Amino acid sequence: MNFNITVLDGDGIGPEICSGAIKVLNAVGKKYAHSFNFTHKLIGGCAIDACGVPLPEDTVKACLASDSVLLGAVGGYKWDNLPVDIRPEKGLLGIRKAMGLYSNIRPAKLWKSLASASPLKYEIVKGGVEIIIVRELTGGIYFGERGKGIDGNNGEYAWDTEKYSVKEIQRITKIACDIAAKRTKKIISVDKANVLESSRLWRKTVHAYAEKYYPEITVEDMLVDNAAMQIVKNPAQFDVVVTSNIFGDILSDEAAQVTGSIGMLASSSLGDGTRGLYEPIHGSAPDIAGKDVANPIATILAAAMMLRDSFNLADEYTAIENAVASVLDSGYRTADIMQDNCKKIKGSEMAELIAQLI
Ligand code: IPM
Ligand code: MG
Repeated sequence: MNFNITVLDGDGIGPEICSGAIKVLNAVGKKYAHSFNFTHKLIGGCAIDACGVPLPEDTVKACLASDSVLLGAVGGYKWDNLPVDIRPEKGLLGIRKAMGLYSNIRPAKLWKSLASASPLKYEIVKGGVEIIIVRELTGGIYFGERGKGIDGNNGEYAWDTEKYSVKEIQRITKIACDIAAKRTKKIISVDKANVLESSRLWRKTVHAYAEKYYPEITVEDMLVDNAAMQIVKNPAQFDVVVTSNIFGDILSDEAAQVTGSIGMLASSSLGDGTRGLYEPIHGSAPDIAGKDVANPIATILAAAMMLRDSFNLADEYTAIENAVASVLDSGYRTADIMQDNCKKIKGSEMAELIAQLI
């Protein structure tokens, strides 16, 4: 089959990690007789430099015309002081919104051979960890009304709003239930219903929806502060977690670190169709950009998720996952996951080894 993929390399380590993922996709193409056509477009800081905006119209058009999108990372010190509307992050938020990608799946899995890279004690992680975070991606405080001003008595002020509609909560609940139906049949819904009105609606809606359409699924609620604690206390209790945009952003970094390194975690962003955007959950790491030390595995796994979730190529997904596991089992490590008695290799070498094993 033939697939057209838009690649948004972005900034910092973005181009290096995308090139690693492309190498692996090409190996998959060769083995399974698919052809992947890659079109590179600008997003983030590099787009600001070239066109003055973080998300050029031409990039949006290309993404909407392709079968799926692979993204590296955006941002860097260079663009940190720009006005909010032309910051690199605006490009990322903009493309998620423009493509209607309300559902962000972030699976945090502890790889067997990386158990000792987890900052948690071995007793806590020895049973394995696999937390599928289902993060709402186009609503909440990220996209709510905001403003700033100056008030005569108190000086400068600023505000953002967390707002969710029943429809937005229902559609993300459906995604979480569909995933849970194939797994432990349990979802943990994370909110702050003891304080926030939006969370009380969230909780009520998740329960009503799941009870009506997925009676076989158990919904447990957890307050976000407790969830942050439970993830490090007993990560094995989590399977599918459904939560809002901002809570999902925060908890997914925490869950990623529990599994050893944020350099290992991929994510898919989907809407109602099959066209998605696949990216590592980590950022552009400008401090290590261009040194070929960045771990490409998260982006390679993101490419694997694209094959499975957008192109329905489950065997190809598994081939990549197995290749990653076997390179790790052989003791090869990039700097971020380096352990005793392992061989430290560069980012490009990691991608090459994985590609060879496909
Ligand atoms: C993420 C990132 C983004 C987010 C930033 C870069 C806007 O942290 O994908 O988790 O907050 O969604
Ligand atoms: Mg984040």
